[in-house]
Amino acid sequence: MKTPTISTLVFFLALVFSSSCAASAVGDVDGFLECLMEEFQNYTSISSFVYTPINSSFPSVLNFSIRNMRFSLDSTPKPQVIITPEHEYQIPPIIYCAKGNQLQIRTRGGGHDFEGRSYVTDVPFVIIDLLKLSEVTVDARQKTAWVGAGATIGMLYYRIAEKSPTLAFPAGFSPTVGVGGHFSGGGYGILLRKYGLAADNVIDARIVDANGRILTRKSMGEDLFWAIRGGGGASFGVILAWKVRLVDVPETVTVFTIGRTLEQNATQLIHRWQYVAPKFERNLFLRIVARRANASEDGSKLTIRASFNSVFLGRIDRLLALMQKYFPELGLVREDCTEMSWIQAILYNVGLPIDSREVLLNRTQPGVRYYKGKSDYVQKPIPISGFEGIWRLFYEPEGREAEILLTPYGGKMAEIPESAIPFPHRAGNLYKLHHMAYWKAEDAQNADKYINWIRRLYSYVAPYVSQSPRGAFLCYRDLDIGVNNNEGVVSIETARVWGTKYFKNNFDRLVQVKTRVDPGHFFREEQSIPPRPRWTGKDDI
Ligand SMILES: Cc1cc2nc3c(=O)[nH]c(=O)nc-3n(C[C@H](O)[C@H](O)[C@H](O)COP(=O)(O)OP(=O)(O)OC[C@H]3O[C@@H](n4cnc5c(N)ncnc54)[C@H](O)[C@@H]3O)c2cc1C
Ligand SMILES: *[C@@H]1O[C@H](CO)[C@@H](O)[C@H](O)[C@H]1NC(C)=O
Ligand SMILES: *[C@@H]1O[C@H](CO)[C@@H](O)[C@H](O)[C@H]1NC(C)=O
Ligand SMILES: *[C@@H]1O[C@H](CO)[C@@H](O)[C@H](O)[C@H]1NC(C)=O
Ligand SMILES: *[C@@H]1O[C@H](CO)[C@@H](O)[C@H](O)[C@H]1NC(C)=O
Ligand SMILES: *[C@@H]1O[C@H](CO)[C@@H](O)[C@H](O)[C@H]1NC(C)=O
Ligand SMILES: *[C@@H]1O[C@H](CO)[C@@H](O)[C@H](O)[C@H]1NC(C)=O
Repeated sequence: MKTPTISTLVFFLALVFSSSCAASAVGDVDGFLECLMEEFQNYTSISSFVYTPINSSFPSVLNFSIRNMRFSLDSTPKPQVIITPEHEYQIPPIIYCAKGNQLQIRTRGGGHDFEGRSYVTDVPFVIIDLLKLSEVTVDARQKTAWVGAGATIGMLYYRIAEKSPTLAFPAGFSPTVGVGGHFSGGGYGILLRKYGLAADNVIDARIVDANGRILTRKSMGEDLFWAIRGGGGASFGVILAWKVRLVDVPETVTVFTIGRTLEQNATQLIHRWQYVAPKFERNLFLRIVARRANASEDGSKLTIRASFNSVFLGRIDRLLALMQKYFPELGLVREDCTEMSWIQAILYNVGLPIDSREVLLNRTQPGVRYYKGKSDYVQKPIPISGFEGIWRLFYEPEGREAEILLTPYGGKMAEIPESAIPFPHRAGNLYKLHHMAYWKAEDAQNADKYINWIRRLYSYVAPYVSQSPRGAFLCYRDLDIGVNNNEGVVSIETARVWGTKYFKNNFDRLVQVKTRVDPGHFFREEQSIPPRPRWTGKDDI
């Protein structure tokens, strides 16, 4: 709450002045910065959290949360301004000033969006990067936690483990994933068959809406609270924090990862897995990651290696008995298994040393890559020949580093009604099929080759996956499935093309919520839910 000093004002006038030559026709950056300075007069100097391109830290602040190298090229469109708020009250004025100066907002949490939507777009825009709003407060007695929207899931896991070894939260694998995008897009991990998605376990939230009001579950209304749990935060406001319900896990869990190549019957095992993994008891989570591998030392003969990766909420003996009964073909033996604590299992699953839990607090993702991802839902087992066709694509040059990941559904996932939250892919789905194409820096300019390859894979699997609509997972955002028209009023029918893939019948309810809370479509992006056009006749809601 301090007044700006003369020197900061002078600094900002210089900044406003010098950025004017870069100002764009649509968004008025100067107007925006002037507006911010006016708004913050009685607060704090804005120079501590507002970055324009003339600031030497601008490129590193932008790059800090880029999690797909595909969007860190010189040719990638850059924001006009990056703002890193330190307090919630700093956000409403940003909304107000952006609205008044026709600048779009991109809210960034952990920056893991597959298509970079939290920090890239073709129109003039401002990034609100929430990384400093990352406080996590765990109440172990109530089994709840408040999580700042800029926190990562690793931070949440760490703070829970600090309080209790038998409490957990059902979110994703990679600790650097941000709760902003992850919880608002659904978010799944090891515990999905037992407890559902992250979004299924959100019990309250704080959000800044298009009018710059800070709302909680009570004041936002149940329809908006429904929408932000799986409908994507970016369509509805800036989420400030989530309150979540923690879940119970045993003191000891068992993990294993075993690889099988084609020579070791990988295809038959994957085929069989489709019949058993979605039906296991819900304490048993067994997923598959398949990729190309060398069958011979010199790399002259190729194969596919399927990695069967599991966490069982129980001890070795019961796990062995279950596997012997339902999936003996995999040949799991005691030596493959390790008992450990829940927090160690989280580290184990991402290949980190299991006794180094401090790394969960580190928001820098090691080994950020160039990639394009897509998703599908499988409702009836894919025949052996279907997998063999996938392997043929993996043997092409662009398949060198590609992966498919198979995540079993069933259990709790099949019990939650399709309309409980906007995420609709529940009963009837055996598993989620996730496609990934990766490439190296030297191919940065040849990304199209790999993107075309993954599109061919996607066409190839079409007969084997869900249809009408062909399901897709919002957390694995894919602009190929459709985008809004980027000028004028967004057509609901255009948005419905991609909207029903992510949300099925929940799309219409999302439109209804959007129409109530953001009729002017201020929170707009390539795949934002459009409001109904203003209606002058009868009430159409
Ligand atoms: C390495 C990696 C591993 C992953 N693992 C998993 C996994 O195990 N399980 C899973 O379900 N998904 C996983 N994902 C996908 C991940 O859940 C999504 O990419 C998710 O959207 C990431 O959230 P974020 O905050 O990091 O991303 P961001 O890029 O910051 O945000 C994603 C979207 O949400 C919006 N958004 C973010 N924060 C807010 C906010 N506070 N208010 C409003 N809108 C907001 C952004 O504008 C953007 O549209 C993974 C992704 C990567 C890259
Ligand atoms: C603070 O704001 C009020 C009006 O909002 C204004 O009257 C006052 O002069 C401001 N104080 C300072 C120190 O700028
Ligand atoms: C860049 O921005 C930071 C934080 O806003 C500020 O502390 C710093 O002085 C700025 N540096 C330059 C060179 O403008
Ligand atoms: C951006 O960050 C990535 C890792 O996240 C790093 O590999 C790359 O070198 C950084 N680029 C720049 C220009 O700092
Ligand atoms: C592969 O399967 C065949 C037939 O089911 C079986 O005879 C063979 O032993 C299996 N091979 C391995 C390595 O498990
Ligand atoms: C496979 O062999 C090739 C050629 O020797 C080599 O370049 C590549 O790194 C090997 N790949 C793996 C995964 O070992
Ligand atoms: C955080 O992780 C990154 C990437 O693995 C690493 O380079 C960095 O040193 C780590 N930072 C800390 C403080 O451990």
